Amino acid sequence: MERKTDLKQKMKRFIVALYYIFFVFPKVTICLRVVGISVPSLKQRGESVTLTCDYDLEGGKLYSVKWYRDNEEFYRYMPRLRPPQHAHKLEGVKVDLEKSSARRVHLRDLTLKSRGIYRCEVSEEAPSFHSAQAETFMEIYYFPRENPRIVGHERPYVLHEPLDVNCSSAKAFPPPDLQWQINGQKVTEPSWLTTFDAKPAAQGLVISTLGLRAPAKPLMKIRCVATIGTHRRERTVLIETSSANRRKTSAHLTLVLILLSCILKIYQIIS
Ligand SMILES: *[C@@H]1O[C@H](CO)[C@@H](O)[C@H](O)[C@H]1NC(C)=O
Repeated sequence: MERKTDLKQKMKRFIVALYYIFFVFPKVTICLRVVGISVPSLKQRGESVTLTCDYDLEGGKLYSVKWYRDNEEFYRYMPRLRPPQHAHKLEGVKVDLEKSSARRVHLRDLTLKSRGIYRCEVSEEAPSFHSAQAETFMEIYYFPRENPRIVGHERPYVLHEPLDVNCSSAKAFPPPDLQWQINGQKVTEPSWLTTFDAKPAAQGLVISTLGLRAPAKPLMKIRCVATIGTHRRERTVLIETSSANRRKTSAHLTLVLILLSCILKIYQIIS
């Protein structure tokens, strides 16, 4: 009988503990919040960046702030440790400890490898051990250093003959968007445009190519525009159109003249 009540007591305590774990503690510990993470969405290769993590401990004590890129830790700040900062080696992530703190981390010399999802994770000290986190994506751009190149425009084209020209961007990342313009008008006719796959270049960069197969016309100025976001580079060339039409009409005229003279001759013979 005594054993039974003992068991009942244990069960009761167990249920109370469960109740606390599932219903009371979570409410107590919801006080830590990561208010915001600030990571620029676009950066250029070679630039520096300051990432900030804003959190609200609401009375709790900070245990650690950890930063991750694509789930790999590269920086932690733990106020109990001396020194409180520690940076881990990670490709494309060069932490400047002097400019970093409990709420921000400064990265130098960004490379294309720096792109990824950045996450900050904040944890509180005992007894709550509660943690909160936020994440966001950072893209690294490499704008083309030169204007796009046009090939195939050097030779003369006969009127209405389809052009066979290509435009290739300088190496960049991500692949630049290419656009063709004829005398200032954007080419939208899909049958005139040939899209080629981006070609890989050194250091993870790429080259975009777009072909133009529009019919040649007189006084034709074609322009290729390469853009990444608001960054823009362009090149304009003139297409030389030979007057095949005039040659054709003169050929017709000669034929008509020959025919006429023949008719005249026949007429003379008959008469
Ligand atoms: C345009 O580029 C494509 C793909 O690189 C190539 O096959 C083609 O010969 C090029 N045309 C000209 C006129 O250069």
